[in-house]
Order: sequence, then C-alpha cells, then structure tokens
Amino acid sequence: MSDAPILQADPKASYLAQKDAIDAAIAGMLGNGRYVLGPEVKAFEEEFARYIGCKHGIGVASGTEALVLALLALDLKPDDYVATVSHTAVATVAAIELAGAKPLLIDIDPATCTIDAAEFARALANPPGRIAAVIPVHLYGLAADLDAILPLARQHGVRVIEDCAQCHGALLHGKKLGSFGDLSAFSFYPTKNLGAIGDGGGVVTNDDALKDRINELREYGWRERYISRIKGMNSRLDELQAAILRVKLPVLDAANGRRQAIAAIYDKGLADTGFALPARRADATHVFHQYVLRTKDRDSLQAALKEAGVGTNIHYPVPVHRQPAYEGRIAMGPRGLGESERAAREVLSLPMYPELTDDQATRTVAAVRKITGR
Ligand SMILES: Cc1ncc(COP(=O)(O)O)c(C=O)c1O
Repeated sequence: MSDAPILQADPKASYLAQKDAIDAAIAGMLGNGRYVLGPEVKAFEEEFARYIGCKHGIGVASGTEALVLALLALDLKPDDYVATVSHTAVATVAAIELAGAKPLLIDIDPATCTIDAAEFARALANPPGRIAAVIPVHLYGLAADLDAILPLARQHGVRVIEDCAQCHGALLHGKKLGSFGDLSAFSFYPTKNLGAIGDGGGVVTNDDALKDRINELREYGWRERYISRIKGMNSRLDELQAAILRVKLPVLDAANGRRQAIAAIYDKGLADTGFALPARRADATHVFHQYVLRTKDRDSLQAALKEAGVGTNIHYPVPVHRQPAYEGRIAMGPRGLGESERAAREVLSLPMYPELTDDQATRTVAAVRKITGR
C-alpha cells in the first residue's frame, strides 16, 4: 500500500494508459499533412454522432464554443432569454452572453444539483421576457430532469440545448444524453470523461439545417471556401485532437465503468457517515465525471484531506450570479438561487478518474472517516 499523494484528476494517466495507440495516431496524423478539419475530424464527427445516437456531429474548438455555436444556430434575438443554472461551469452562462442573448438563472434541485424543473415552470409562467431556449446541464455525470424539462420546453416553444460537458456516455431511459435536445454541446477538455490533449468540443444534432448552420458558423460563415454566406467565426477542431479522441472513444464505456466502480467504493465506505452522497436515478446511469459529497464542514474537510495527501476540488465554489463579472445584473427565477448558493458552500469532489486504483479510493475513504471521526 503506497502513501503517495492522491490526485483529484489525472489526465496524464489517461494518456499513459493508451500511450502506444495515441503516439501512433499522432504520428499517422502528422504524416497526413492535414492539420485542421481533415480526415480525422470527419471520421471522429461520424463516430461520435453514431455513439451518441444522433445524425450529425460537428467538431469545434472547445465546449464553450460548442454552446456558443449551438445558440448562434438558433438565431436568437438580442432581448431573448436563455434559461440555465448558476451552479455550473461559468462557461455555460458566458456562452449565452457571447451568443448575444440574456441568461436567466434557475435554481437547482438540491438532490441532483441540476435545474429545478418546478422553478423552470414558474419562470415560464412569469417570464422576464421571451425565453427562447433552455440549457439543462447534466452536472457531474447524471441526467438533469429532462422528463419534466422537455415537455415544458415543447409546450412553450423553447429550444433545448443539452450541456453535455460532464456526461459523455451517460444514459437516460437507455438513450445517450445528448440525443434528447435540439442540439447538444460537448467539451473534450483533458479531464472530461472523453478528453483530448488540449482544447476541443463538439455539437451533435439530428437537424440537417442546424448542422449546416453550425458547419458554416464555425468557419467564417463559409459553405463554399472564401465566400462568407453568413457572419461566422473560427472554431475548428484540429486533426491532432480528433486523432486522439478517436483512440479514446472506443474505451469510453470501459472508462466510465471504472469510474462507477470507484464510486461504488466511495458509496460503500461512506454510507454510514451521514454525508449527502451522490444521488442515483433508477432510469439513468451516472458516469461520475465527479463524485461529489456534501457537508457543512466542507472547507475544513478539504484542508485536512490536503494535509493527508488526498486531492479534492470544488465544483463550483462561487455560483455564476455571485462572480464579479455577473453579480447584480443577471436575471434569476422567481424564488431566487438559495439552493445554488448552499451547494457552492457544501460540495466537495473526491478523487475521480479511471486510472485511480481501488487502493487509492479505499485510502481516500479512510482519510475522510479519520478526519471527521465518522
Ligand atoms: C458544464 C460545463 N459546460 C461547459 C464547459 C466548457 O467547456 P470547455 O472548457 O471545453 O470550453 C465545461 C468545462 O469546463 C463544463 O464543465
């Protein structure tokens, strides 16, 4: 049994686990002579779309830009609101403003830390303006309440963009997350369940027209080279990242299985401690992008774990509406954002990545129990 420090995330371990295949893919791609939007990107787009169960995949430069492009494709008006949560990566909310719309922040269901559908319904009944779209975030690897959100959105003519940055491979009713919305945005940041070795992102959709529009928007508005049919940007996925993602996609389910096995060690080891442990849903799989427990003593527990050599993280310490760039100027749902603020004070992400060993997970449990005396 080693007592070396335990990292909270370790993207290098994921490279080393497939070093030979990744090195070979990079060598092959370098030899191709196409470095941006070439054959590797095209193949990855097809393979990823097939994996998610959607007709089209579009490789882009990051998860943030996947959201921006998805929003731009919907042709929102400047006064349109896009509903989402405050307890998320700031990118979700930043993307709404980057696309020229206004965020409307809805509180979360404390059990899952995802959008509270009842509060979304109240916001729809009493909107600050036209709510044109909603971005449910499948936070930590578990589905948001799409069973309630999708019919509400349909009823009110609201488009749905799933934020799938943390849920690659997760299922709801046996279908992959990312296949439910009008469009879905993925991040391939290195620590994600499907991670590149640099920035990368993807949009998936079943809609041919939206696919065409995103293809144009991501490259200067071109359909035909050098002719900008619409205003566009540069948000292309490069061949290097696509080649690496093509090596990793076939082992994504196995990697998620390993995350679930680590979560089972945490669940069992912490069951009688009284901490709030991650929620499960009978109709959904949890792919544990993060294993997040909740406790009022979060800060002291985190500091003591650090002393004991166990790395943790907080996803996220400051809700978006409390961040300096947003505070005091963002619309929120009728009942405010109390649960989002409470979550920011209480959540703690334990070490979680597929290469974490059973021994490291068991040591983490032992350290938590020793520190808290539970
Ligand atoms: C929920 C969520 N949305 C969006 C993003 C943005 O992705 P990226 O970092 O690839 O821009 C992330 C990742 O940071 C995320 O976790």
